[in-house]
Amino acid sequence: MKITIINGPNLNMLGIREPDIYGRQTYEMLVNDLTAYCEEKGVEPTFVQSNHEGELVTAIQNAYFEEADGIVINPAAYTHTSVALLDALKAVALPAVEVHLSDVASREAFRQVSYVREACIATICGKGFDGYKEAIDLLLQK
Ligand code: DQA
Repeated sequence: MKITIINGPNLNMLGIREPDIYGRQTYEMLVNDLTAYCEEKGVEPTFVQSNHEGELVTAIQNAYFEEADGIVINPAAYTHTSVALLDALKAVALPAVEVHLSDVASREAFRQVSYVREACIATICGKGFDGYKEAIDLLLQK
């Protein structure tokens, strides 16, 4: 089972950015934690983090061309703006799970819109790193 785990803009700043919201753990710690989890579950992960929308589109397309079985995606701020990411997810038609570290539902009004949601089988919010693990489990059940 191959899963592409995609993180959008500013998630490379985990541990530094708004620690009250996103915690003190770094992106590297997220990758290490998920690598260990994937090993336990027999999943082969591919990690992509980019601050650029087009690179995230390419990462979604690469998941298809590299024959991934599913996608875990935290599009970060592009969640709330990007038709391009929605179109890319629809184009590849792979099972995808949307993850947010914070509970976006209880935050600003502009965070209530998710363009990618309609192309995802589930959305997991507010569970920190565990949300990514739940997303991996959902894809394994698929
Ligand atoms: C986020 C929530 C988004 O609204 C925000 O722009 C992010 C991170 C989260 O993981 O909680 O950058 O996706």
